[in-house]
Amino acid sequence: MDSVLKGKHIVLGITGGIAAYKSVTLLRLLVKAGAEVQVVITPAGKEFITPVTLSALSGKPVVSEFFTANTGEWHSHVDLGIWADLMVIAPATASTIGKMANGIADNMLVTTYLSAKEHVMIAPAMDLDMMAHPSTVRNLATLESYGVEIIEPAAGELASHLVGKGRMEEPENIFSRIEKYFLSQCDLKGKKVAITAGPTYEKLDPVRFIGNYSSGKMGFALAEECASRGADVTLVCGPVSLVTTNPNIVRVDVESAEEMLAAARQPFAEADFGIFAAAVADYRPEVRAQSKLKREGAEDMTLRLVRNPDIAATLAATKRDGQVFAGFALETDHEHENAFKKLHKKNLDMVVLNSLQDKGAGFGTDTNKITILSKDGTEKTFPLKSKRAVAADILDLMCSFK
Ligand code: CTP
Repeated sequence: MDSVLKGKHIVLGITGGIAAYKSVTLLRLLVKAGAEVQVVITPAGKEFITPVTLSALSGKPVVSEFFTANTGEWHSHVDLGIWADLMVIAPATASTIGKMANGIADNMLVTTYLSAKEHVMIAPAMDLDMMAHPSTVRNLATLESYGVEIIEPAAGELASHLVGKGRMEEPENIFSRIEKYFLSQCDLKGKKVAITAGPTYEKLDPVRFIGNYSSGKMGFALAEECASRGADVTLVCGPVSLVTTNPNIVRVDVESAEEMLAAARQPFAEADFGIFAAAVADYRPEVRAQSKLKREGAEDMTLRLVRNPDIAATLAATKRDGQVFAGFALETDHEHENAFKKLHKKNLDMVVLNSLQDKGAGFGTDTNKITILSKDGTEKTFPLKSKRAVAADILDLMCSFK
């Protein structure tokens, strides 16, 4: 699976602090994940780490001055600000933070910050007293109010040998924050999403059916999350008591598995993302009585059931390149093994595993605890969350397949 960072343009700003050596690790992680990184270093930063190391690792000349003295080549902070999908300043010293908060554009890094169009993150690093000084506190609050994301420094032994808050967050953790940012950016504007949700009811006669306890909440949460990210959603749902309000959701109500398959064919064929969240009855009564079945004194009764179509397997069998399809698996035993089997058998890109052994997960609840298994064999387990937050996790992962 490609990293969400693949092809992303990142400006990595480095300022003059001891922690600059850790930026090398951060740079390596970003490059390894496929990001294009342009390092911008302040004059003080160069006292701590050499531009040669940084340009060798990033594969691009490091930018520090407004122009290269011997050639006169102009480095445009405006172009860099537009180029960047994200700007990360790590380490960010008290001085740079102060300049950023007050618009003091006396170096290439701060001018680039002032021109940056996209998100900016800073990882402060300084001595504990500097960190606690009212001017630093105020400047950080100002930057936060401008939308800058502050990656709080950790507490520990500092370069001064004093112990306290001010140590730059570890590069691996900064990298995770960057990854998380891009994952949360997964925008579905202009994308089509098809979702099946809820139970199916398989009629026995005009007043009875075989069904299950699915409430449809997970499928509806997915539909709402997709629609709020700008997607055009078709939600094919079985009998549920839920309502949809977002105008981007076209809802098609069905009852049986056969009706669900018929209604889902076109939306799934056209979808960029398809999600099979319905709890489809695997069997239906062979005979659907036209009038109410009578007791007629019999002590027992045998119902003959026939197989329903597998909607996921049927529609994913003709999955095109570029389409990403996800299914669910509700298992009680050999969960992972069974879920992986379903993934391959049904030609899905990922399977969301709900374990009935987890409290708060499954039918009817407002929360869910999932593990997502992907076709490349990887697994990701999430903590118990609201179904809407779970929907966001599922979509973020689906987007990473695109
Ligand atoms: N599914 C479907 N049509 C069916 C059965 C299942 O589209 N007739 C989809 C579900 O929406 C889900 C996935 O397939 O995304 C797995 O469903 P599940 O009920 O866990 O698996 P089954 O294939 O029915 O296997 P079993 O019931 O034997 O565990």
